[in-house]
Amino acid sequence: MKARIAPLRQPLHAAGQRVPGDKSISHRALMFAALAEGESRIAGLAPGNDVRSTARVLAQLGVPLLRGDGTPWLPKPRSMDFPEDDEPTFVPPNRPSGSRPLPERDADMDFDDAIVLGQGLAGLREPAAPLDCGNSGTTLRLLTGILAGAGIETKLTGDASLSRRPMERVAGPLRQLGAVVETSEGRPPVVVRRGHPLRAGAIRSEVASAQVKSAVLLAGLFAEGETSFTEPARSRDHTERMLRMMGAEIAQRGTTSAVKGPASLKNFALDVPGDLSSAAFLLAAALIAPAGSSIALEHVGVNPTRTGFLDALSMFGARVQLELGSETPGPEPVARLTATAQKLRGAQLDGDVVLRAIDEVPILAVLGALAEGQTVIRGAGELRVKESDRLAQMATGLRAMGAWVEELPDGLRIEGRGGRLEGGAQVDAADDHRIALAFSVAALAAHKPSVVSGVEWADVSFPGFFRLLRRLGADVEMVS
Ligand code: S3P
Repeated sequence: MKARIAPLRQPLHAAGQRVPGDKSISHRALMFAALAEGESRIAGLAPGNDVRSTARVLAQLGVPLLRGDGTPWLPKPRSMDFPEDDEPTFVPPNRPSGSRPLPERDADMDFDDAIVLGQGLAGLREPAAPLDCGNSGTTLRLLTGILAGAGIETKLTGDASLSRRPMERVAGPLRQLGAVVETSEGRPPVVVRRGHPLRAGAIRSEVASAQVKSAVLLAGLFAEGETSFTEPARSRDHTERMLRMMGAEIAQRGTTSAVKGPASLKNFALDVPGDLSSAAFLLAAALIAPAGSSIALEHVGVNPTRTGFLDALSMFGARVQLELGSETPGPEPVARLTATAQKLRGAQLDGDVVLRAIDEVPILAVLGALAEGQTVIRGAGELRVKESDRLAQMATGLRAMGAWVEELPDGLRIEGRGGRLEGGAQVDAADDHRIALAFSVAALAAHKPSVVSGVEWADVSFPGFFRLLRRLGADVEMVS
């Protein structure tokens, strides 16, 4: 699917706007609720395909769960952005025989709410077929940790993009804990073998990765004693916060996170904050829109291990207003964020700011191309092994739109234009949601309309993005 996106001519205005639920937190909420004792209720799950993959896979492991959209799982959401798409085919996953029935539907449930009947740490069942994790690295990596801990024989697969991504970074540490985990030359499919009880242990990782850390801590829930994970810098800590909320013994010592097993996890109720990684595209759109634009987003997660994007914006000289929510009953802080159109100046982004903005680097590169002066992004080598090689894709696409970009081994050097891009380009999302969204925002700040192909990938994290842009006044046309 291609979208023709015209430059904005009028200011953008939005107040009281919500963004989709946080993807990282949503995956964890479903998985951890499945391991809890008793019923958990989750409100505001991320609506995209990735979290649907997690729900479907948990159903295949015998977990009774129900989504408020009337189905426990769907292979593909009915995104209003692409109404001409075929109706999604409903393929109920094969539930293992003897699985407990699905929870009853509750009249109060909203579309993106869920009820999960936790089965306890010992309650997962061996699936009848491989677990297809779709495009979702978080699903595959975190579940590998859980399944290794539970000693359940499984094969985990993914789509073409996920099948290219490195998995030894998870398999290696789990083997150190005694699991038998096989990869296919380091990539999916990943096979977990049954019957290898885990020993607690101390794992050191050369990459800072919340997915690897979470896989190790989740495996550690099942082992006797303390399992720890030490990384070079502190990655996002949603797993630690949520497990602590559920009664697990979690310790934090510098960049080491540790869990004591065997754990017993309490059920919970959680209101998932909006995803700052999705909010970033709207905040960026407001910053680069015609003078007078302003966008206010409600209930956005502002966990300090995720707010590198906001720090980067202040390094671009932008002022974004952050009003912390007064009562935050959950484990994660939330805030109202307001951005207005402003002039940006080039910035040097690296280290901790980049790690805490790792998924926002594509949109930061767009801002760099529009800022006045040079922007250098370093320490972003991990972007080469995300859903696509995001450094290469951003360099190619931004150049096509008229920016000057040099690709570095671990980042980008961009000579900002101090104003609109040329546009009039054909750019491709490379089967990557964040690239689709980043190019779409860049197209709003150009002289001529651009065509972005592969825009349907936006549904992975932000279904409804193009409908929202149109509602805010942008001229977006689906052209095939
Ligand atoms: C995620 C961690 C990050 C991030 C990804 C989600 C998570 O990946 O890029 O989108 O939910 O733990 P890494 O842990 O591989 O850095």
